[in-house]
Formats: sequence, C-alpha cells, structure tokens
Amino acid sequence: MTADPPLLRVEDLRVQFPGDDGLVHAVDGIGFEVRSGRTLGIVGESGSGKTVASMTILGLTRRQGAQISGRVLFEGKDLVTLSEEQLRAIRGNEIAMIFQDPLSSLHPLYRIGRQLVEAVLTHQDVSKAAARRRAVELLGLVGIPDRSRRMDAFPHEFSGGMRQRVMIAMALVNEPKLLIADEPTTALDVTVQAQILALMERLQRELGMAIVIVTHDLGVVAEMADDLAVMYAGRIVEAAPAAEAFASPEHPYTWGLLRSIPSLGRRRDEDLLAIPGAPPSLISRPSGCHFHPRCPYAEPDHARIDPQLEPVADQPEHLVACLLGSGERRRLWAKLRAGATPEQAIAEGRTAGGTA
Ligand SMILES: Nc1ncnc2c1ncn2[C@@H]1O[C@H](COP(=O)(O)OP(=O)(O)OP(=O)(O)O)[C@@H](O)[C@H]1O
Ligand SMILES: [Mg+2]
Repeated sequence: MTADPPLLRVEDLRVQFPGDDGLVHAVDGIGFEVRSGRTLGIVGESGSGKTVASMTILGLTRRQGAQISGRVLFEGKDLVTLSEEQLRAIRGNEIAMIFQDPLSSLHPLYRIGRQLVEAVLTHQDVSKAAARRRAVELLGLVGIPDRSRRMDAFPHEFSGGMRQRVMIAMALVNEPKLLIADEPTTALDVTVQAQILALMERLQRELGMAIVIVTHDLGVVAEMADDLAVMYAGRIVEAAPAAEAFASPEHPYTWGLLRSIPSLGRRRDEDLLAIPGAPPSLISRPSGCHFHPRCPYAEPDHARIDPQLEPVADQPEHLVACLLGSGERRRLWAKLRAGATPEQAIAEGRTAGGTA
C-alpha cells in the first residue's frame, strides 16, 4: 500500500428513500477507498444497493429524493456537501460514469459522431472542427474500426459491444481521474464482455485512472479488480484485496457467490443459483445479521446480534461482518472449497467434534 491519500474515500455513506411503505435503506453505512490506477469491484445480488451507492458518489440520487449522510471524499473534497453546480463541474470531467445499457444513455435519433462532438463541446472550450477531431480520436482509442465513417452512424446501427465502446469513449472525453462503471458488460455476450474489460484495463493503464466497477459477476472482478467489496442488503459484508478475497473468503455470502461463478458459456441468469432464498426487503430488514435467514450456518443468536465489519485476525486489509467464529469459518470454507455442500460442511464439523 502506498502512503498517498486515496483518490476516493467513502465514509459511512447512507442513502434512504422515503416511500409509501416506509424508508428504503438502500445504502446503509458503507465505506471504502480507491487509489489512482486501481480498480475496486463492488459485487452483490440485485437490489443490494450497488447502483444507488455509485450514483450517490456523483450526487445523482439527490434528485430522486434520497436522504444522504456520510462523506464522499474525492481528492479530499466532500462531494455530499457540494452544490449541484459544483457537482456538475466534477461529473463527466474528473469523475465519469458508464451504465449497463448504452442504448438508454445514447440518443437514438442522433448520429454517434454528433453525440460525441457534443460531449466534447460540453466539457471543452474548443472549435467544432477540433471537437470532431477529438471525437474521431476517441473512437479510435476505444477500438472502433473505420471510425470516420462510423461517426455518421446511428446508435441502432451499432452492436451492443460497439455501443458500449462509444459510451466508454464519451466517458473518456476529459480523461477522468475516476471512472465508475455500473454493470458495463452485463448486457453483452461473453466474448464481447471480455473485449470491453480488456479495453477498460488498457485505458486505465494509459490514462492512470481509478475504476469502480459494479457487477453481479465475480468473474468480472477476478478479471479486473485489485480490491473487492461485497454488498448485501445495503451494507458491505466483506472487503479485501481481490486476490485475498478469492483465496480465503470469509463471509458465507461471499462463499455462495464464489460457488456460483459462471463457468465459460454458462448463462448469466444462472449465476446466483447457489444461494437459495431472496434478498430481503430494504424497508423491513431481518433483525440481527441481515443475511441470517439465508445463511446455512446461522446460529440462533445471529437473529439478535448485528455484526460489525471488522478486520480478520492478522489481516488488517481484510474485513468481514460475520458472527461465526474465525476458526469455524476457516473450517467451513476448507470443506466447501473441497467440494462439500453447505449441509455436508456443517455435518462434518459435528462428527469431527467441531464447534456446535
Ligand atoms: N429512487 C428510488 N426510490 C426508492 N427506492 C429506490 C430508488 N432507487 C433504488 N431504490 C431501491 O434501493 C435498493 C437498491 O437498489 P440498487 O439499484 O442500488 O440495487 P443494485 O444492487 O444496483 O441492483 P441490480 O444488481 O439489480 O442493479 C432497491 O431496493 C431499490 O428498489
Ligand atoms: Mg444496479
């Protein structure tokens, strides 16, 4: 770890939406850091708060009536306290964001070139001709062939992967210091997904930017991320350097995600079959550990005690929020990694005289 202050530091961020049925606790006290040139992967099932968290970094949930607390320190400035106007100066300039569905972000009736030129003109005080040259250059940077001619195409004439490349080009207009990518490859097939991830990695190397990549898919994290944060029901339940998280994951939810990593060619909607049950309502969350109703290893008092995110013994960078003892977790993961089902792992602990 370097001693430089992190580019982005999120502290105890909470985002709630008032609704007819009560407060939606979409993001419930999360924190993490991202340094220049590094990639943080945020994973979790649908509804765990990944998009709300990333949009809140850019101040985009305010307009949806969100109640926000905590700090989002970008180069030391707290974005939560900035005015809309001050945020606009940062958005698209120093921090850029790309979303899952490029079709919803590109205007269907305008040619790709025009949209890129407008993006350049929004952020840079240059002539139209210079903006067009920059747009063509950006299309080249993201690997679009025949780019001068492609400038005149409409979004529907591009494939999904090409459209995502265009979105990346738009995000890079000002060479942002931080790129937030929310499911940038989920809508793409496996081959194109790999190309887009490789593109993002190359651009990161060339431009030195930090990336926060939000995904359902631990395979994407394995490919891209230096650090991993696992979200469940609006909270981070495990955070660690990615290699460490893959080698010795500590949280039963992370185990479930890992056991469901899609093998090549498997359909994406099958990813999470290995975790039975559904994520909880974020209006009335389970008491105690929010994961306990789905946790095969939960003990009765886990419904009462709220686990805190704490360092794993002798690994200060590896944090977990789990009420199981560390010895028991190590034993269970060893069994699971060797191919046992959760039921087998539990049963073997009993016969071996392990913790009851
Ligand atoms: N504007 C809003 N008003 C009320 N509730 C919202 C709003 N936006 C999001 N939510 C709720 O916040 C929770 C978290 O949503 P979010 O979109 O962040 O999940 P996610 O982890 O990105 O899921 P996915 O993987 O499906 O994209 C969900 O319960 C969602 O219904
Ligand atoms: Mg989302």
